[in-house]
Amino acid sequence: ILMNTMHTETTTERKKVIFSAIQPSGSITLGNYLGALKNWVALQDEFDCIFALADLHTITVRQEPAKFRRNIMEAYALLLACGIDVGKSLFFMQSHVHTHAELAWILNCYTQFGELSRMTQFKDKSAKHADNINAGLFTYPALMAADILLYQADLVPVGADQKQHLELTRNIAERFNGLYSPTFVVPDPYIPKNGARVMSLQDPTKKMSKSDENANGCIALLDKPEDIMRKFKRAVTDSDACVRYAEGKDGVNNLMGIYSAVTGRTFEEIEHEFEGKGYGDFKAAVGEAVVEHLRPIQERYADYSKNKDYLEQCYRASAEKALAISQRTLRKVMKKIGYIL
Ligand code: TRP
Repeated sequence: ILMNTMHTETTTERKKVIFSAIQPSGSITLGNYLGALKNWVALQDEFDCIFALADLHTITVRQEPAKFRRNIMEAYALLLACGIDVGKSLFFMQSHVHTHAELAWILNCYTQFGELSRMTQFKDKSAKHADNINAGLFTYPALMAADILLYQADLVPVGADQKQHLELTRNIAERFNGLYSPTFVVPDPYIPKNGARVMSLQDPTKKMSKSDENANGCIALLDKPEDIMRKFKRAVTDSDACVRYAEGKDGVNNLMGIYSAVTGRTFEEIEHEFEGKGYGDFKAAVGEAVVEHLRPIQERYADYSKNKDYLEQCYRASAEKALAISQRTLRKVMKKIGYIL
């Protein structure tokens, strides 16, 4: 892989660096895939991409060890199956690259209590896990800032729920740069051209989430075809009985968004395709299209998950390269602060 330094030797213009991460906190969903992962895959030629499983972030919520371990391995294999290519990008586990935790500590000391208190995700999660409002949950954004700033990322693809954390990352970077001298690239959010926001099939006003109380609302990428079909057939729609995109038709709009994302058809084409047809036909068609889209991913996943040695080669090699890149930033930071290196 050609990372920053090598690029300067081979080309005059350096590719922009993208960093993003996802938590291995349970099954990866169709929402994760259409909203984020599909775009990560598409970015790999145009950018120098660095992707991580944010497994340090995950323990802000208590994890059962055996399950956590399985979730991490499953997420790693599944993201490769989705098309993350370690020949083009780096893809590793955050916990394997110790600079993340180190810079996170330092950035904690450049982040204000008041700033962290204003994070809406912190407020939401502390309401949800009132029995475990730990310090990690509170300082989570400083670790996220470290993830991004270590690689001098220019762009960070994030969904709406992480916008505020990225804004804080920018503030921390600017503050540090201002206190010392330019050290960090101040990252911009990257809003993908076709980032589908997938909603729950049971409550289409809420984001599709693996923690949905109603399991029928959420499609996991590894769901069996018959389960996918069943969930789509039960998806909530409306009484208008017409496949068209319109305000107030959240359920149908969501299904159209999913169908469009997996088939590449426009909303106009979809409306035309289902003219005069009922929701039953429509929902079955969406289910089938999703099943077909996921089939090759599920097949590749089955192959990768049988090949633990190959997976290990991939994540170790990426982590080694990530460590080398991130250490340059960490050393620069420590030197400016005054540490003896
Ligand atoms: N906090 C993010 C999430 O839960 C995951 C994440 C960790 C991340 N570090 C990041 C996303 C850095 C973007 C950049 O979705």
